[in-house]
Amino acid sequence: MSAAVTAVRGPFISFVDDPFLTGREDAFVYESDGLLICEDGVIIAAGDYGALRERLPQGVEPVHYPDHVISAGFVDTHIHYVQTGIIAAFGSQLIDWLNHYTFVEEQRFSDPGYARQMASSFCDELLRNGTTTALTFCAVYPESVDALFEAASARNMRMAAGKVLMDRNAPDALLDTAQSGYEDSKVLLERWHGRGRNLYAITPRFAPTSTPGQLEAAGALRREHPEALMHTHVSENTGEISWVRSLFPERRGYLDVYDHYGLLGPGTVLAHGVHLTGYERGRCAETGAAVSHCPTSNLFLGSGLFHVHDAKDPKRPMHVGLGTDIGAGTSFSLLATMNEAYKVAELSNYPLDSIKAFYLATLGSAQAMGIADKIGSLQPGREADFVVLDPKATPLLAQRTARVNDIEELLFVLAVMGDDRTVRATYVAGSLAHDRDATTG
Ligand code: GUN
Ligand code: ZN
Repeated sequence: MSAAVTAVRGPFISFVDDPFLTGREDAFVYESDGLLICEDGVIIAAGDYGALRERLPQGVEPVHYPDHVISAGFVDTHIHYVQTGIIAAFGSQLIDWLNHYTFVEEQRFSDPGYARQMASSFCDELLRNGTTTALTFCAVYPESVDALFEAASARNMRMAAGKVLMDRNAPDALLDTAQSGYEDSKVLLERWHGRGRNLYAITPRFAPTSTPGQLEAAGALRREHPEALMHTHVSENTGEISWVRSLFPERRGYLDVYDHYGLLGPGTVLAHGVHLTGYERGRCAETGAAVSHCPTSNLFLGSGLFHVHDAKDPKRPMHVGLGTDIGAGTSFSLLATMNEAYKVAELSNYPLDSIKAFYLATLGSAQAMGIADKIGSLQPGREADFVVLDPKATPLLAQRTARVNDIEELLFVLAVMGDDRTVRATYVAGSLAHDRDATTG
């Protein structure tokens, strides 16, 4: 294939550093009339349109989005594609919710046809929401992983996923064994990791549904494949934490279970971490393990409030990304997720500004997954995944954004009021992958 050059023009924001740790101004670049030139799916130039336009090859006309805001595509660090069908299931906290809804729905993914249908609509829904990368749980069935990676490959998305490992405390139809879980994961990892843009994540569900033998096997697989990601849940709900203590009395606490089996390190993403202790946050910082902050889910299941400012304490900051945690989370939109993250932070009297919120949804999430050299920002050499946001997406949004004074205020209004309607377009590897106006006519 000859080099395919595409270009997009419009205001853009991109992160170069962590605004929790540096001065806000040092953390991002804003171009009020920017140009992004992409070749073979990679950004080759990003900057001021006037300065860069002569680098446009003959005949390449940039798609122009005046009065919009372009950002790196959103990165969802924790989601379950197999739970798309049970969003908004009434009335339970974590363990009852798992038993009543989740474990029932996940059994349906033993049918590869159903898995393919759900994987396809899941990827489309991500793109409608401006999410270009997700780290997703699949079901226990290997076919559910194939279905997801096939759907992601068809759209050329950078996707991370894994077969869930669970060999106890769930219905028989959802259980593997320490041995079969290890073998199936290894086959899937070797089949999919690094094929196209796909990444494999070793995925024990959480400590209560894995025997020590299974966690041992997961640790062995991680040692054999340090290039893979590792994805699980931790310290989401106080009842869950007590259960882990009773199942693993010899361990110092919940996080120590994963630590003991060698499951913490760069590329480890732990969902929730709402109730992590100071010691545990320190261990995450030391090892490089990240937390996925999932505010819509934590509120929906009544799990608690994640204190992002404690996690990003400059004395020992840990990586934090944002996650929707569909189906306990209530929206695919990372704008809606920023909105809830802001409110959760307000409850602990910490004003989460828009620069930090957008950082968490882009570069912060890419860093959490250990792939910030590939995605998460709009700089030359990064893959050309981006989202075009429309400040006039609804009459009320247009009215409100007409009054903003600067980019920070505009981003704040978009984060608090935005949703899928705000996503005008989504680009994957330099190509248009979702066009709101084409879709809705
Ligand atoms: N902990 C273990 N499994 C799950 C799950 O599917 N969703 C959430 N929110 N927490 C979990
Ligand atoms: Zn989850």
